[in-house]
Amino acid sequence: MTTIIEPFRIKSVEPIKFTNETERKTILKDTGYNPFLIHADDVMIDLLTDSGTSAMSSKQWAGIMDGDESYAGSRSFFRFEEAVKRITGMDFVIPTHQGRAAEKILFSILGGKGKFFPNNTHFDTTRANIEYSGAEAVDLLCEVGKHPEEKADFKGNMDLDKLRAFILEKGPENIPLVFITITNNSGGGQPVSMENIKGVRKICDEFGLKFFIDACRFAENAYFIKIREKGYESKSVLEICRELFSYADGMTMSAKKDALVNIGGFLALNDDKLAMNCRNVLIVTEGFPTYGGLAGRDLEAIAQGLEEITDENYLHYRIRSVEYLGEKLLAAGVPLIEPTGGHAVYLDAKRFCPHIPAEEFPGQAVSIALYEKGGIRACEIGSVMFGKYDEKGKLIPPPMELVRLAIPRRVYTQSHIDYVAEIIIAVFNERHLLKGYKLSYEAPMLRHFTARFELAD
Ligand code: F0G
Repeated sequence: MTTIIEPFRIKSVEPIKFTNETERKTILKDTGYNPFLIHADDVMIDLLTDSGTSAMSSKQWAGIMDGDESYAGSRSFFRFEEAVKRITGMDFVIPTHQGRAAEKILFSILGGKGKFFPNNTHFDTTRANIEYSGAEAVDLLCEVGKHPEEKADFKGNMDLDKLRAFILEKGPENIPLVFITITNNSGGGQPVSMENIKGVRKICDEFGLKFFIDACRFAENAYFIKIREKGYESKSVLEICRELFSYADGMTMSAKKDALVNIGGFLALNDDKLAMNCRNVLIVTEGFPTYGGLAGRDLEAIAQGLEEITDENYLHYRIRSVEYLGEKLLAAGVPLIEPTGGHAVYLDAKRFCPHIPAEEFPGQAVSIALYEKGGIRACEIGSVMFGKYDEKGKLIPPPMELVRLAIPRRVYTQSHIDYVAEIIIAVFNERHLLKGYKLSYEAPMLRHFTARFELAD
């Protein structure tokens, strides 16, 4: 059969408020043309993020009722701990309120001036936490991963030659750990191969370095390994997960992605001394080690979500529905990162509107047009999010200008996705009408969240 049905029935629904183009034009003006500042009720299809936006299952909701809210030694903690250990095999599990809290704890202990953290591509909060500690975050993505139009199975891989050269240049004593992000969110949700993960492990062993995984979308990555990497086709996703985590010394996790919950995260690791230090920071910043920054009910929902996420019928539907949107767009000539990633379709704004220069934020222009035309909210990942300035105040653009259409897990049906494709194609067919923008306000860090824009002259 070619039709992939959603592997769930819908038991509870949330109405969508419909708006028209005239109303949306006013909303855009009032919110400084920044989709982050739009009231969610005014969004028809929200593809801003796949983070914390999952629909929970009836079993997860049942877990919410069943959560044990004891301050210490909660039953829900032990269920959560067991679920994490079953998939990762890590010895110590530390709950946090979301992924960046796990990053904050880790990098406040291991970071500091003169330290370097290599990664395939750091996500923005990971980079921000490293830089906040005074250390440097360095991206060493493989070359093919930097070219949206080039097809390859594992465009999230680390460039192993560059990693070795980097360690030799900076000195292993200045590299507290090597990190890898699966899937590589900032580079298009592209997977990392098992071979590459093993390669990183080998280099870390050579220099006596620790190796951590930013594991937000580990199950999607594992499914890509199953369908694309030789030797894994008959392994279960759970076996693949266990193998890939076996090469790492630890991980940070935002449970808001592949644990199918609306809030939560954790840090899991094998080093008892480092775990003790992390727990000491946790107690000051998050909470007692058996709840971290979460309620007992949240821990139950994560434990259940971790059981559901490795279901291969779910993962097949998940990866295929993202690919389905990509296929529709490609058939109409819309440029995007190929092949499509695990959680999102990334439009290539450089090729979508080549008449808008990086200084006028082509990705922002596309995402504004998608909202205006169809009430769709997407996220710019380009010069707004990652642009830097030189000494003269001239923009240094990042290598890619992207617009991410992140698909929330188990939320939208195929007809929603068909509508999204229709709107994008309509905007693409009138792309010559798109205009650039300039910033009228920007914060010093993570400016994309609060920036305001106006039309460029
Ligand atoms: N690492 C990666 C790869 C992420 O994608 C995110 C979050 C985090 C860490 C931080 O986790 O939000 O729980 O604190 N990504 C979201 C996104 C926000 O929209 O891609 P968090």
